[in-house]
Amino acid sequence: MRLQGKVAIITGAARGLGLEAVLTFIREGARVALVDFDVSGGERAKELKQQGADVEFYKVDVADRESVEQMVAAVVERFGKIDILINNAGITRDGMLTKLSLEDFQKVIDVNLTGVFNCTQAAVPHMIAGGKGKIVNTSSVSGVYGNVGQTNYAATKAAVVGMTKTWAKELGRKGINVNAVAPGFIETNMVATVPEKVIEQLRQMIPLQKLGKPSDIANAYLFLSSDESDYVNGTTLHVDGGIMM
Ligand code: CAA
Ligand code: NAI
Repeated sequence: MRLQGKVAIITGAARGLGLEAVLTFIREGARVALVDFDVSGGERAKELKQQGADVEFYKVDVADRESVEQMVAAVVERFGKIDILINNAGITRDGMLTKLSLEDFQKVIDVNLTGVFNCTQAAVPHMIAGGKGKIVNTSSVSGVYGNVGQTNYAATKAAVVGMTKTWAKELGRKGINVNAVAPGFIETNMVATVPEKVIEQLRQMIPLQKLGKPSDIANAYLFLSSDESDYVNGTTLHVDGGIMM
């Protein structure tokens, strides 16, 4: 029980890495706010409640500042505090630079970058009030090394590393650790959009010769949210099978 009694907000919790993190955190004793704009997250929360978990679903677009603020207020009302924020919600709108529309560029910025800013800015005062907190931001191998077809996405995921380091410096004195996880290619819906021939090329590039599983990332989120990482701050944990070094 590495998160016994902790209250965690997990964004993008309806499926994929976010949902896996929800399940992992519950197993470790956390009480979890599932945040997603996909209402299927509400069904997941209902099932988890029936199994005895202390969870609540909040239908929120992280890019919408007002709904984020309302969600954070509702979480504090419902659970009494916020110990952990996992900024996991994210989208892709892939396209080569020469074809990428301004709309697709902006949409990815709104969710992956502004969304992380919105959630963190709303949650942090409550962590400061508690004198302790853990924030984990989701970057990507694409943000660290770049990736063909991902101008918009790579920009946001690199920016997440910059915000992580800045917040680690600003919030350390308040007892708040801020770190990032940079997943490689993990088997979720997001990667299902990548053409099979690209996946095959990627597999050849990964020393472990396989894609990652959602649990590989949920375990990294868990470590960076638990007391075990109390002296880890401002780092980006690469969970990518060693695809690039
Ligand atoms: N490396 C080098 N060259 C590549 C390439 C690659 N990875 N991918 C495509 N190209 C080349 C193609 O061979 C092609 O070359 P020619 O013009 O000489 O034939 C050229 O780039 C154009 O490629 P497409 O014909 O595929 O162009 P398109 O406009 O139809 O599609 C695309 C472009 C949408 C970017 C498509 O190639 C694609 O979806 N690629 C995958 C992008 C990707 O890896 N996304 C990761 C999603 S998962 C995720 O984002 C999670 C995470 O954090 C890692
Ligand atoms: P996914 O597409 O399976 O799940 C993303 C979840 O976020 C969905 O439930 C979706 O509804 C939700 N979401 C999207 N936009 C939202 C918004 N504006 N507001 C609220 N919720 C929103 O993706 P996956 O793979 O689970 O990705 C999770 C995170 O991990 C993302 O930030 C992604 O960029 C990142 N990542 C994923 C990798 C992978 O290989 N799957 C690799 C590197 C990073």
